[in-house]
Amino acid sequence: MSPRHTDQAAGPAEASPAAVGAEPTDGERAAAAAVLRMIWGVHMSRAVYVVAALGIAELLADGPMTAAQLAQATQAHEQSLYRVLRLLASLGVLTEHEDRAFTLTILGERLRADVPASMRSWAMLVDCGGGMRSFEPIIETVKTGKPGLNIAYGKGLFEFLAARPDQAQQFQAAMSDRTAALAPSVATGYDFSPMRTVVDVGGGNGTLLAAILRANDHLRGILFDLPSGVADAATAFQAEGLMDRCEIVPGDFFQAIPDGADGYILANVLHDWDDATSVRILDACRRAMAKDGRVLIVERLIPDDPADAVPVLLSDLTMLVVTGGKERTNAEYSQLLTDAGMKLARVQPVAPPYGIIEGLAP
Ligand SMILES: C[S@@+](CC[C@H](N)C(=O)[O-])C[C@H]1O[C@@H](n2cnc3c(N)ncnc32)[C@H](O)[C@@H]1O
Repeated sequence: MSPRHTDQAAGPAEASPAAVGAEPTDGERAAAAAVLRMIWGVHMSRAVYVVAALGIAELLADGPMTAAQLAQATQAHEQSLYRVLRLLASLGVLTEHEDRAFTLTILGERLRADVPASMRSWAMLVDCGGGMRSFEPIIETVKTGKPGLNIAYGKGLFEFLAARPDQAQQFQAAMSDRTAALAPSVATGYDFSPMRTVVDVGGGNGTLLAAILRANDHLRGILFDLPSGVADAATAFQAEGLMDRCEIVPGDFFQAIPDGADGYILANVLHDWDDATSVRILDACRRAMAKDGRVLIVERLIPDDPADAVPVLLSDLTMLVVTGGKERTNAEYSQLLTDAGMKLARVQPVAPPYGIIEGLAP
């Protein structure tokens, strides 16, 4: 069996390591530097968070500002802020000019709200799911399988968010931004013509369902999620003139799912749950669906080539720590369907690394 390297640039270690105390080779020094960069990944994450959370990317939207001006506008300590900005300039997020003035690069632009491919809500999301505290007990998580968020707060993510409306809103904003980028490929790439009604199970604030209804005039939709999940959905559907083809149903998929529809969408839902719970959710969809109905699981798929897998595996680690769920391969989704009394019809790739895993009753 060949070893799985997550970094194709990294070669295998030498067979016989040099004696302790020997001078490191150039390769060993470079490897140490690469590992140190990983060890200090949290520094980069927190520096990016500063720029998003203090609104610095918005302040720089109109042109250069000095560290002193930015510190004054954000009520920050100038020298400390400058050191964060200087690091981000060396990472390519900002550009530093004369007199400690900064501008945004194309990376820095992504930390603004309301720009194409904005990542601001994702920079903020890091502090929604229990933030750094969820990652602190990672040794216990790895030894027991218990999510860090549950260890730190004594409850699961969705219970945690239900008690924190502001963080729940930020969480849904990040989900919506991510799903907006993926939605057109699902809405136009999948053939919804044989369906009349679809239920978006755990559909959040309706970003995906709205895109599907916009692209498919004949279709009716039911948005189904926890009360905290659908809190802002009506405004968005009304603004798009879709309320006449859409119903918003607050509820709990462990209790009951709206029945009788021919399509049950589960987008970015099963990755929040372990296998046994995912089978329960799929089984509930199977029992709710009309004859000849199908489930459409929209999820990131773990690519076969490890070189392409890093973003999905980083998401997988988030699931391990924050939700107790996991990212899966095609074969693992197929197994979940089988365990829930369905069979895999096909996997349709949409915006990478996503796929639609279509399941139907045998
Ligand atoms: C990761 S988000 C995905 C949201 C949306 N489907 C998307 O792709 O953007 C998971 C969603 O599952 C919802 N959810 C969690 N537990 C639920 C439950 N017991 N019943 C219904 N929805 C639930 C959450 O409120 C959240 O909106």
